[in-house]
Formats: sequence, C-alpha cells, structure tokens
Amino acid sequence: MSGSILIAGIGPGDEALITPQVSAALAEATDVFGYIPYVARLVPRAGLTLHASDNRAELDRAGQALDCAASGGRVVVVSSGDPGVFAMAAAVFEALEAGPAHWRDLDIQVLPGITAMLAASARAGAPLGHDFCAINLSDNLKPWALIERRLRLAAQADFAMAFYNPRSQARPDGFARALAVLREECGLDRPVLFARAVTTPDEALRVVTLRDARPDMADMRTMVIVGSSQTRLIARDAGPILYTPRSAS
Ligand SMILES: C[S@@+](CC[C@H](N)C(=O)[O-])C[C@H]1O[C@@H](n2cnc3c(N)ncnc32)[C@H](O)[C@@H]1O
Repeated sequence: MSGSILIAGIGPGDEALITPQVSAALAEATDVFGYIPYVARLVPRAGLTLHASDNRAELDRAGQALDCAASGGRVVVVSSGDPGVFAMAAAVFEALEAGPAHWRDLDIQVLPGITAMLAASARAGAPLGHDFCAINLSDNLKPWALIERRLRLAAQADFAMAFYNPRSQARPDGFARALAVLREECGLDRPVLFARAVTTPDEALRVVTLRDARPDMADMRTMVIVGSSQTRLIARDAGPILYTPRSAS
C-alpha cells in the first residue's frame, strides 16, 4: 500500500495564512477531498482531482479519502482553519477505527492550520490571553443539554469562551438560548466579540456587551468570543482593543 493521506488545515480564509507545509502537500496531491466551499478555495491543476462534498457527509468523505489513499493516491483532506478543531481529522480517525484493517497501514498525518478562534482573537487584540475554552454550539452531533451544561460550567469557571458554529438557518434558536444562559451566569456587562468571515474580504468585527448582544449578530461564518470577568477594552481612535490580561486573582 503506497498511498498517503494528509489531513490539512487551510486556515480561516486569507491565502497568506496557509502554512508552507500545507501548500507543499497540496502541490504534491493527486486527490483532494473536502466540503464544497473549502475545495473551491483551491486552484485546479492537471493531475489533481478535486472531490467536493456536502458538509453533512464527513464520514462518507473520510471513507472515500481513505479508500483513495489505499489505492495509491496522494490524498489531502482539507478543512478550514485547523483540521483537528471541529473538523475532518477526527472524522477520518472515526472512519479509520471502524474501517478495514488495511487502512491502518496507510501513511497518515495531520497538518495543522490557523483556527478561526485564533484568527478572530488576533484581529480583536488578545481576548484569549488567559485561560479559555472552545465550545461548538451546534447540536447536530450532541444534545443541547450537554451544550448548556458546558456553557454554564465554563462561565462559572470564569473562562473566556470561544464559540464555533454559533447559529445557522437550520438552528436559528440555539444561540438565543446560549446568550440567555451567558447573561444568567456572567451578568450583562461582559464583552462579546462577533468576528465574521475573518481574514476574508467580507470580514466584519463588532464588540458589544452581553446586554446588547443579539442572535442575529451571528451566523455560520461568525466566531463569537465572550470575555472572562477580567477581559477589557482599550479605547483608541483606530478602534478598540479587546484583551484579557495574563494574570488573574
Ligand atoms: C465546522 S467549524 C470548523 C472550524 C475550523 N476547523 C477551524 O479550525 O476554524 C466552522 C465554524 O468555524 C468558524 N469559522 C470558520 N472560519 C471562520 C472565519 N474566517 N471567520 C469567523 N469564523 C470562522 C465559524 O464559527 C464556523 O461556523
């Protein structure tokens, strides 16, 4: 079995944020598998077959990519951001664990990328400068009760919190419930960053308090970061800086 499978992060949007390691892997690939908009970011070339699929098809995509590698392909599976953060690396390993034994002989590597949480944080300042956690607000793969429990405990532990997948057309109400929980646990004055389409031409950043945060400020291209009790704003003419100091009492 001579094929290989690399699971690569293509960053939050800006090409300059794709690592040289990932660019080299893409230049060598015979087959790239990924969600339609992520594959659309790649430049087609002779010798490369692009396999784009829907976002609900992760396990199928992972199985097809493993099969392709087992047939000798130099396969790259792409995710936006980092492939280990709510993305394809875990899906490929789920398929590998359940799949035929010969898949385990493949050369498999995960190539990291810049995850949306870090890109958004960098644009706003350093809201994740002290202890923080990341929570996926989608209830597609876990029950809402678990999301709410994690939200409450993270807020009670005074973490800054980074929220992926805050709101979609299929899940219009969950984020409103999340905001209600956060207001109960953190009060109304806590800063909230809405960072949309970071590092793309559509980028939009907004900092409000939990009092003023509204569900329609987030969509599926938005990263939401809620500060800890220590997170603050430095006012500047050029726009505020949101940061969390390195020490806490
Ligand atoms: C399925 S998760 C994938 C995360 C990805 N693996 C990563 O590491 O960034 C998709 C979510 O990531 C966030 N996201 C991805 N790219 C983003 C960007 N450029 N700006 C803001 N949020 C982004 C959004 O919350 C979106 O709903």
